[in-house]
Amino acid sequence: MNDNSALICEIRTLLGGSPPKALVRSFGCQLNVSDGEKIKGLLEKIGYTFTENEDEADLIILNTCAVRESAEDRVFGIIGSMKKLKELKPSLIIGISGCMTAQAHNAEKIKKSYPQVSFVMGTSAISSLPALLLDSLRGVKFSADTSEYDDFSQSVPQVRDSSFKASVPIMFGCNNFCTYCIVPYVRGRERSRRSDDIIREVCGLVHDGYKEIMLLGQNVNSYGNDSDGEISFPQLLRKLNGIEGDFVIRFMSSHPKDASRELIDAILECDKVAKHLHLPLQSGSSSVLDRMNRRYTAEKYLETVDYIRSKDPDYSLTTDIIVGFPNETDEEFKDTLDIIRRVRYDNIYSFIYSKRSGTKAAAMADATPEDVKGRRMRELLEAQREISAEHYKRFIGRKLRVLVDDASKKHTGFLTGKSNEFIIVEFEGDTSLIGKFVEVEITEAMNWAVRGKLV
Ligand code: 5AD
Ligand code: SF4
Repeated sequence: MNDNSALICEIRTLLGGSPPKALVRSFGCQLNVSDGEKIKGLLEKIGYTFTENEDEADLIILNTCAVRESAEDRVFGIIGSMKKLKELKPSLIIGISGCMTAQAHNAEKIKKSYPQVSFVMGTSAISSLPALLLDSLRGVKFSADTSEYDDFSQSVPQVRDSSFKASVPIMFGCNNFCTYCIVPYVRGRERSRRSDDIIREVCGLVHDGYKEIMLLGQNVNSYGNDSDGEISFPQLLRKLNGIEGDFVIRFMSSHPKDASRELIDAILECDKVAKHLHLPLQSGSSSVLDRMNRRYTAEKYLETVDYIRSKDPDYSLTTDIIVGFPNETDEEFKDTLDIIRRVRYDNIYSFIYSKRSGTKAAAMADATPEDVKGRRMRELLEAQREISAEHYKRFIGRKLRVLVDDASKKHTGFLTGKSNEFIIVEFEGDTSLIGKFVEVEITEAMNWAVRGKLV
C-alpha cells in the first residue's frame, strides 16, 4: 500500500487558489464506471470539484474500454479533438486510464501521436494518480504507470454517481480466456476481495440509504476460488442477504459454465436478491461455443435455464450475444435464433464480433462478409423485439416492486424505474419518488418496457 498523503499535500500547494475542476468520463462496463468513481474519490481528496463541461476543466481523465474496436475508435476521436482545447489552455492536464492503456500498442500510440496527453494510468494503478498528477503539474510532458498494484486491497475513496444505487466490485480479472475477449489480457487473472471487506462495505452503503447494491465481477460465480478458505459466491449472497435493511442485491456477470444449482438455489431462497439473472450465452451453437472456448454446450446451458424455470416459470433472464464470430455459418446463427425463442429472454445485449489483436480468435480465418453480419444482427434484434413484447405481457395485472430511477425522458409527467426482475417500468408520478421503492400495477406491455399505475 502506498500512502499518498504527502503527495496530495504537495499537489494542493502547487494548485493553490480556487479549487480546480476535473472531468472524468468512463466508457464501457460497470466495473470501469466503478473505477471512474474511485478516480473521482481520489481527486476529491486532492481538492478537485467536478464539471461535465470540458471548456472549464483543468483536468480531463478518459477512463477507457477496450472490449470492442468501436469503443477504442471513439476514444481516439475524443483525444484527437482535445488537441484544440490544450492549445487554448496549455495548463490543461489530460490523462488516459482504463483498459486501453493495458495494451502496449495503444499506450505507445497515445504517447507517440497524441502529445496533448499528459499521463497514462493502468487499470491496477489508480492509486498512482497523485504521483502522475504531480509529474504533470511540475511540467513533465508525459508520464505513465501501468504497473499492477492491486488497488482493490486498499480502501480507495469513491465519489458515487448515484445516491441510491451502488456498485461493489467483488473480484477483478478473468481466468477464462474466451477466444474473442481482451479482458483477461487487460485486467489480468482473477483476484477476489475479502468477503469481510465486501460485507462491511455493503453494510455501510445500506446504512447510508443505498437501495440497490450491484455486485460486480467478470465472472462472479468463481468468486473466492483464488483464495484459500474464502467463502463461495452463493455463501456470500446468503451473508449479504442477512444484512438488515430495505435494499435489493444484483450481480453481474455469471459464467454459464459455473452457474451451479447451489447458486440458483441461493438466488431463489434469498429474498433480497433480485429475481433476475444475466447469463451471457454468446451463441446458441455448440460448435461456435467450442470455438469461443466457452466450455459449455447449448444443451448444458438449457439445462441451467430449465432448472431455474422449473422453480419459477416467470424467472427473468437476460443475455449477451455475439453475432458474426469468425466463420459463423447461417445454420449456426439459426441455432442462436432458436435458443433465444426457446429461453424467452426479457432482454438481450447483442454485439457484432470485433477482432481484438492478441486474442486467439483474432488469428482465425473469417470468410463471413460484413453485410451478412449486419443482416444477422437486424434479424436477431427483430426476433428479440417480438419475444420481449410477448413475454412482457406476463406482467399485465401484476404488481411489481420498482426502484424509481428518474423522470422519463420520453413522456412528461412519467417516471421510469427498474423492477426487481430488471424490467423498465414507466408510470405517472412525482419526482420526489426518485430513489425510492414503489409498487406499480402493470397495465400495458411494450417491446422495451412495461407501463402501469402507482398502487
Ligand atoms: N466482440 C464483440 N463482443 C464482445 N464481447 C466481448 N468481447 C467481444 C468482442 N471481441 C461482448 C460479450 C461480453 C460482453 C461484455 O461484450 O458478449 O459478454
Ligand atoms: Fe471475457 Fe469470457 Fe472472461 Fe467474460 S468470461 S471477461 S467474455 S474471457
